[in-house]
Amino acid sequence: MSGNKKKRKICLGIESTAHTFSIGIVDSEGNILSEATSMFRPEPGKGMIPREAAEHHVERGAGIVKSALDEGGLKMSDINLVAFAQGPGLPPCLRVGAAVARYLSLKLGVPLVGVNHPVGHLEIGRLTTGSEDPVFLYLSGGNTQIISYAEGFYRIFGETVDIPIGNALDVVARELKLESPGGPEIERLAKGGKYVELPYGVKGMDMSFSGIVTEARRKIKSGVSAEDISHSMQETCFAMLTEVTERAIAHTGKDEVLLVGGVAANKRLQTMLNTMCEERGASLRVVEMKYAGDNGVMIAWAGMLAHASGQKTDIERSGFVQKWRTDDVRITWM
Ligand code: ATP
Ligand code: FE2
Repeated sequence: MSGNKKKRKICLGIESTAHTFSIGIVDSEGNILSEATSMFRPEPGKGMIPREAAEHHVERGAGIVKSALDEGGLKMSDINLVAFAQGPGLPPCLRVGAAVARYLSLKLGVPLVGVNHPVGHLEIGRLTTGSEDPVFLYLSGGNTQIISYAEGFYRIFGETVDIPIGNALDVVARELKLESPGGPEIERLAKGGKYVELPYGVKGMDMSFSGIVTEARRKIKSGVSAEDISHSMQETCFAMLTEVTERAIAHTGKDEVLLVGGVAANKRLQTMLNTMCEERGASLRVVEMKYAGDNGVMIAWAGMLAHASGQKTDIERSGFVQKWRTDDVRITWM
């Protein structure tokens, strides 16, 4: 119809780095056209076995591609670009997404672009809030990073020195025999709890959560209630995150904080950050809730940005990258 329409491109994104297999479809104007997702959930009290999650992705993958296309009223032939989360993540899971991506790219005869999963979280945060150049707080099951853009890279200002915040919450939740994922369960129980002391782990701009988990475990064994543990986990960990974020604002002079990743869903965390931001004349933005956890839309959008700024991934170089730091990615679109 319009001349505009000719130039509009559609990107299909594949997420499969860990527990979630998801397909997202976006266009080059930043419209989210559809999403279909299936999350592997281990039994209560059990951790996730990578091979089992990968089997889930193999079983559900094709159906999810179809659901995403149907939901968007799209055909395979409408897709102009295939993006996939190339890493970091669990090898058996990453392999599934990479294989689906290569197959679709070859079959459709469209370019392929490998996306860094953390960068996907950052970009969907910017897209859904309109935030341009914030201090990012990326909090998830696998990551705890305070990030800001400077000269071609997303630089890490502070991070965990041991386990990530989401993982800390999940481990304690497991110890309490709560459903997986543990974060939302801890949030629910925390409302009825009171504070018991846990070690505060800030060292400069970095944070440590493993001592907190050890002490929480000890207190659980000695009979402290699930409500008190949950409440104290939140208060301690979130105070640490807020303190380091405050210092990152002071250091960078930026006046916006953007919260992304699965843990961004937590209302208590949002409140603590918001209070700190208000005191500093900064503002807090939170990624649209639907896209806080792992999803294919964030991969599709980051892939669209990368491709539009000249990046693509040859099939021969499309193997997964198990370890791939956020600050190793060349940001060619900022
Ligand atoms: P990544 O690969 O990006 O490091 P991830 O694969 O673990 O992360 P996400 O979906 O981004 O995936 O984050 C999942 C984490 O978010 C889990 O640890 C989960 O417990 C946590 N989480 C989800 N909702 C909440 C909540 N309301 N409060 C606290 N934590 C939450
Ligand atoms: Fe994630």
